[in-house]
Amino acid sequence: MAFPRQRLRRLRLQEPLRRMVRETRLSPADFIAPLFVTIGKDRREEIPSMPGQRRLSVDLLVKEAGELKMLGVPAVILFGIPDRKDERGTSGFDPKGIVQRAVRELKDKVPDLLVVTDVCIDEYTTHGHCGIVKDGRILNDETLDCLRAMALTHAQAGADMVAPSDMMDGRVGAIRDELDQQGFPDLPIMAYSAKFASCFYAPFRDAADSSPKFGDRLSYQMDPANAREALREIDADLEEGADIIMVKPALPFLDIIAAARRRTTVPIAAYQVSGEYSMIRAAGRAGWLDEERAMMESLLSIKRAGADLILTYFAKDAARRLG
Ligand code: PBG
Repeated sequence: MAFPRQRLRRLRLQEPLRRMVRETRLSPADFIAPLFVTIGKDRREEIPSMPGQRRLSVDLLVKEAGELKMLGVPAVILFGIPDRKDERGTSGFDPKGIVQRAVRELKDKVPDLLVVTDVCIDEYTTHGHCGIVKDGRILNDETLDCLRAMALTHAQAGADMVAPSDMMDGRVGAIRDELDQQGFPDLPIMAYSAKFASCFYAPFRDAADSSPKFGDRLSYQMDPANAREALREIDADLEEGADIIMVKPALPFLDIIAAARRRTTVPIAAYQVSGEYSMIRAAGRAGWLDEERAMMESLLSIKRAGADLILTYFAKDAARRLG
């Protein structure tokens, strides 16, 4: 049937009807808020390249988490800014490390909020790479031991879910083994499965002081040109025991989210990364686009593409808008 019998505009003429035929809806329950935690007390450092985001000391982190929970955001993911770094990133798997302390406090003070931890050593290494470095190369299997130790200390601190973001081969299986052997068989793993080597992480690296000091991440993060390979990464992570898989970044990789949705029945997370956030914020501040609408449209697109969970720095603003 075609025009003039078929008129698609009929269903667009009134808001109540538009609402009824709307295919995708956002909810604060879709969001995971990324938070940066730093040492000290009553410390709040603005992040210049991510306007509106801050590094928070644990006491202020607890406040922020409480506000997110009040707004209906069910989960946060933590990134640590440690006070010391070394070649192996040992401050990242110190039971008294910054993330481990933050998890304990959050679970104590905001018990119903889900606390996810990012498992990766780049914020804790002097060289800024996500793996152990030897002679300028990133070693895969040696890195797995660090990741196992880090995931275990997060679990012992009370984390509700661990999220490996390093892109070493075999890390999901290694972490799953470690958790199972150490008494955490019920702790889920959200794997950064299709994580691309993207320029959109730049503001995050500013925030976390985690830029590689030499070279780049192309030997472990994925080539943005590759869609089939993303599915191989997802398949591998699922085989190794991932409970949730992730695509990252989100907006430049909506096709990957959609392909993942067709491929698997497990929940899919998408990470609207720092650069995606900062672009929208910057254009909004310059008056070049309506920031709030850009925020909501981008989040809606990510959900429409097939994501169930969205990691986004807009979690608080979007939840407020939806609430
Ligand atoms: C690695 C990690 C990164 C991000 C999350 N986990 C940075 C990187 O791979 O360089 C980026 C998130 C963002 O840009 O918002 N631990």
